[in-house]
Amino acid sequence: MGVSRGGFSSRFGFIMAAAGSAVGLGNIWGFPTQTASNGGAAFVLVYLVLAFCLAYPAFMAELLIGRYGQANAVSSMQKIARNTWQKRFGFVVGFGGIICAALILSFYSIIAGWMMSYAIEPLARLAGFAGAADWLINHSLIRNILFTAFFMGLTIFIIRRGVEEGIEKWSKRLMPMLIGLLILLIIYVFTLDGAREGFNAYLNPDISRVFEPDLLISALGQAFFSLSLGTSVMIIYGSYIAKKENLVTLGAQVTLIDVSIAFLAGLLIIPAMYVAQAQGVAIFAEDGSLISGSNLVFTVLPALFSGMGDVGLFVAFGFFVLMSIAALTSSISMLEGPVSYVVERHDTPREKATTFIGLGILVLSILIVINLEWMLDFVATLSTQYGQPIIAMLCCVFAGWVWHRSDILSEIKQGNEHVEHSLFWKIWPWYTKFVCPTAIGLVFWHSL
Ligand code: TRP
Repeated sequence: MGVSRGGFSSRFGFIMAAAGSAVGLGNIWGFPTQTASNGGAAFVLVYLVLAFCLAYPAFMAELLIGRYGQANAVSSMQKIARNTWQKRFGFVVGFGGIICAALILSFYSIIAGWMMSYAIEPLARLAGFAGAADWLINHSLIRNILFTAFFMGLTIFIIRRGVEEGIEKWSKRLMPMLIGLLILLIIYVFTLDGAREGFNAYLNPDISRVFEPDLLISALGQAFFSLSLGTSVMIIYGSYIAKKENLVTLGAQVTLIDVSIAFLAGLLIIPAMYVAQAQGVAIFAEDGSLISGSNLVFTVLPALFSGMGDVGLFVAFGFFVLMSIAALTSSISMLEGPVSYVVERHDTPREKATTFIGLGILVLSILIVINLEWMLDFVATLSTQYGQPIIAMLCCVFAGWVWHRSDILSEIKQGNEHVEHSLFWKIWPWYTKFVCPTAIGLVFWHSL
């Protein structure tokens, strides 16, 4: 191998990086829209339970595999495997995750590009360039390609610098900014008319909906997407953590941050929707269902911002910068998956590997941009609704059935001397062996 791998230099650095991967458009855009279209607080409740009971154990499986292997996803899995079949199985799961991360990045960067163009628009308007401002928020092929490339360029720039100087340094800068911006925006929206109604819709659960199958499936899918599971990313981030760290607690902290930010984002978006409604913007379609998806972020919210007058320009700027930051700390982790694989398995310098893989994924993104109507949805469904749950499930199967129990236990014990008395120690091994794969499988089966 001969290449120095690098690693996170501090606990805080790891938490910010892993939370940065987890906190993305899924939290700030996906979670609130899912909540609003699935019965408000009932969805929040189910989401919280599933995130801690199913997503967290699966998340721990990936982190533990990575820290044990101290290598990219494929090599880490293969280090655990003991015979040829198991090694093949490890390859399929590890490499599948890497492909999945690349596919997600290919469409994620397009949406992130939109966020950036919407962030620059208010600046152009303030500076008096009305024509440029209009161009920035009108979907055109050329704008889409330019901004996708711009966003991918930023991602490549950070990943070229490696773990400590790239991922860690930028996550430590960007994540606190994101949290600060989010809180400022929430406070501001709360002072507006209509916010209270949104607040109530968000926090009063309609308990009768809690067991609706659709709601359960959406909540589980959201929890897996949000923790970036099934994409090899957490295996790689796990491999950059020092053996002296207590992984069980670190994993729990990251899950907690991820869930809290999703919750906070709901506190911003849902009241903002009701504020928009109070100002006469339509937020429900004619059949009473919520206008969600891209329309919510790119039409409802901008309509709200422009109704605010000049302040709206600043609020719009803040909001779309928030979205762009969230997207960037996620996209760097997606690129790290394939890059670490090529660097370690094919002895390629990091800079070169990053540039080539990044540009390769950009080509795919441009292909998607050109065929936006069908391809965006297709790639998103393939990678997030099929790829992620299947690979996350196989990771649990791998940890539960292939990995020697004594090796797992000694890995858990690293950096955590007293773990033997904890609930995690008693429950997690059989939980990952039986409960996680079955539950993920059931929910996945049902979603078909
Ligand atoms: N967790 C990210 C979000 O909430 C999205 C995501 C899904 C992701 N899979 C990933 C990020 C893999 C990094 C790697 O938006």
